[in-house]
Amino acid sequence: MSKIAGRKTKVDRDKALAILQENVESKQIIRHCFAVEASMRSYAEKFGEDIERWGMIGLLHDVDFDKYPENHPEHARQLLKDYDLDEDFIESIVSHGTGKENMRNSQVRKCLFAVDKMASFIVAVALMRPTRLEGLEAKSVKKKMKDKAFAKAVDRDELIASMDDLGIEFEEHVRIIVKGLSEHEELLLKQGYSLLN
Ligand SMILES: [Fe+2]
Ligand SMILES: [Fe+2]
Repeated sequence: MSKIAGRKTKVDRDKALAILQENVESKQIIRHCFAVEASMRSYAEKFGEDIERWGMIGLLHDVDFDKYPENHPEHARQLLKDYDLDEDFIESIVSHGTGKENMRNSQVRKCLFAVDKMASFIVAVALMRPTRLEGLEAKSVKKKMKDKAFAKAVDRDELIASMDDLGIEFEEHVRIIVKGLSEHEELLLKQGYSLLN
């Protein structure tokens, strides 16, 4: 599959954030979208892909969740069609939905699925630590994954399966995500947001 199928999006990050804010009121969802954005940027850097594009796919992946939770993420197609976003961009977003395994046929899509729950899980682990993300290692995350009472809504088997599908080891997965979250936090703070406050 080509990196970018069809027309390339002209939307930049400011515009993508404006689209998110137009459609999502929940601060919790917006914060989750930032965490996924940060992780996607970090993965794009690792894979030598388009950092801005991967980041925006992460930023907008739950754009329909606040208003259309029962039809999420299918409704993103409808919601995003009037913006200058290409088809592969939108379909990549739709591919993270339940039962969309067949759509997860490219690295960006596998990556989105693998970081979706893990990014917020790692933020939750960081929030329990005095030093937050600083020095956060895979072993601390692994410990919390074994703690069934912690973030119990997160399906551990799915976290592992999505990582395997991407072909990444647990330690590296955590390292890449922590790096992305730490770097992105600096930008977010300048814009009046935070993953950690
Ligand atoms: Fe979602
Ligand atoms: Fe999500």
